[in-house]
Amino acid sequence: MQHDDARYHIPVLLERSIELLVTDPAGVYVDGTLGGGGHSRLLLSRLGENGRVLGFDQDDDAVQFAQKLFAGDARMVVVRSNVVHLSDVLHQHEIPSIDGILLDLGVSSHQLDIPERGFSFRFEGPLDMRMDRETTVTAADLIARSTEEELANIFFTYGEERNSRRIARAIVQARTGRALKDTAALVDVIAGASPPVHRNKTLARIFQALRIAVNDELGVLERTLAQGFEALRVGGHMVVISYHSLEDRIVKQFFRHEATTCVCPPRTPVCVCGKVARVKMLHSKHIEADENEIRRNPRARSARLRAGQKIHA
Ligand SMILES: C[S@@+](CC[C@H](N)C(=O)[O-])C[C@H]1O[C@@H](n2cnc3c(N)ncnc32)[C@H](O)[C@@H]1O
Repeated sequence: MQHDDARYHIPVLLERSIELLVTDPAGVYVDGTLGGGGHSRLLLSRLGENGRVLGFDQDDDAVQFAQKLFAGDARMVVVRSNVVHLSDVLHQHEIPSIDGILLDLGVSSHQLDIPERGFSFRFEGPLDMRMDRETTVTAADLIARSTEEELANIFFTYGEERNSRRIARAIVQARTGRALKDTAALVDVIAGASPPVHRNKTLARIFQALRIAVNDELGVLERTLAQGFEALRVGGHMVVISYHSLEDRIVKQFFRHEATTCVCPPRTPVCVCGKVARVKMLHSKHIEADENEIRRNPRARSARLRAGQKIHA
């Protein structure tokens, strides 16, 4: 593996996200999605000698890469785990609370660019798509075992694909003749079931849907936001960068819920729910990459950053 973090992955909204994250240079921070370690590297440069970073990744490649990148920096702890286990890991490390948490969601360029991982429809490879290769269900397994209706639901819900039923039907027909085990076979079936205009967009949506399902990305995100926020000390910051509307909706709703006070039904004369606002947003709408960054790194185009400060336990 090339030991060059820009080659592994170019970090998105790098300066802005770390600026928003750090409140105390001697604090404890969580990078829930290490990838090529670009965000953690800048974060460490902003911390003093007592600062600490727990960097999570569920992908062995990222963990090995980070272990080399941060070797010799005692402030960095690389954790090979899904960040959904955050509470347990903090408990094991006897960390009662954290000063900030960063989540830079989705897959890295490294994962997309390695054909054997099966994340991209642009390369021939096995239909794997697991970020954590110790889990058991691959995209090929999902395709082989799901009913037509289940597949259509996956494509519609996680890919927002309008042709979901037609594509699901074509997959079920194709898999009776031969197992669909690689990206090229799936691309063929999708191509036969969708109009040629916007074909790449259809392929991208179906591959995204399968990836989200294989890694339970949305369920994991909801549970991680809740745990990360509980672990955060009052005054600490949570920064989340998402890359598609499904993720962003979850992040937006999470912050909105935590930022509201009373949720009593309308016309209730006196508040009985007692809900207090626990978040203050650190920006007005959301933050996007500027044209310069998008030119250098097209992946930044879809990025949306949302950040909030915990203001109440
Ligand atoms: C977009 S990349 C992060 C890039 C990173 N910020 C950088 O500067 O290079 C996402 C990384 O997070 C990992 N990842 C995604 N979801 C995860 C989760 N729930 N738990 C742990 N790692 C996760 C992926 O394996 C991938 O390496």
